[in-house]
Amino acid sequence: MRNYKFTKKWFERHIPRWEKTLSDLKNNNKKINVLQIGVFEGRATVWILDELFKNMESRLTTIDTFENIFVNYDYEETFRENIKESGKDSQVDIIKSNPFDALTKLKCEKSIKFDFIYVDGCSLISCDVLNDIIISWNLLKEGGIMILDNYEWDYFEEEFNNPRLAIDSFLSNFQQHIEVIFKRFQVAVKKVVKEVPRTPRDDKSLD
Ligand SMILES: C[S@@+](CC[C@H](N)C(=O)[O-])C[C@H]1O[C@@H](n2cnc3c(N)ncnc32)[C@H](O)[C@@H]1O
Repeated sequence: MRNYKFTKKWFERHIPRWEKTLSDLKNNNKKINVLQIGVFEGRATVWILDELFKNMESRLTTIDTFENIFVNYDYEETFRENIKESGKDSQVDIIKSNPFDALTKLKCEKSIKFDFIYVDGCSLISCDVLNDIIISWNLLKEGGIMILDNYEWDYFEEEFNNPRLAIDSFLSNFQQHIEVIFKRFQVAVKKVVKEVPRTPRDDKSLD
């Protein structure tokens, strides 16, 4: 067991579902690209490195502002120490930025596509979450898996201040390319190509 340091146990309860959902990536030695938005001390990050990175050419891109309004200490240092402790730090690209800028840059400048994307930024305001999801979705390979966190987090009174509205909008608008794997506090989806039906209405009054 490696000597990781964590102060929060947010991730632990999700592990059984991650094991199942990501079993294809876990059980082969293929080179994969993973994107993670929101890393905190790196608990999920080291899970990804320990469990999914069997191939030395696999790459993990992480994006975090390292500004969390809910905690008050320098967890960036802890994150970097934990990544080092994993022994796979050379496979990790750390981008310290707001996700919108970083993702736009990734989309424009690199032709990289990801096999798995995990979105867990602390910016939980619906419009920011929607931005992050949509740009990330465009960076996901066909057949790729995306996990969105905090779906049921309803800390604020106003609907637009919580992530649910963004996640529901995304699920509705992209439904023809989405297979929902599970929908709980986290939501997991697979990007699929489906025949898109276009059924003309009986009412032809628009002719
Ligand atoms: C709940 S924590 C992530 C926990 C992490 N997934 C884990 O495994 O422990 C949320 C993270 O989002 C980061 N964050 C804060 N503002 C952000 C923003 N605007 N966009 C993306 N991430 C942000 C915080 O720095 C924090 O590390």
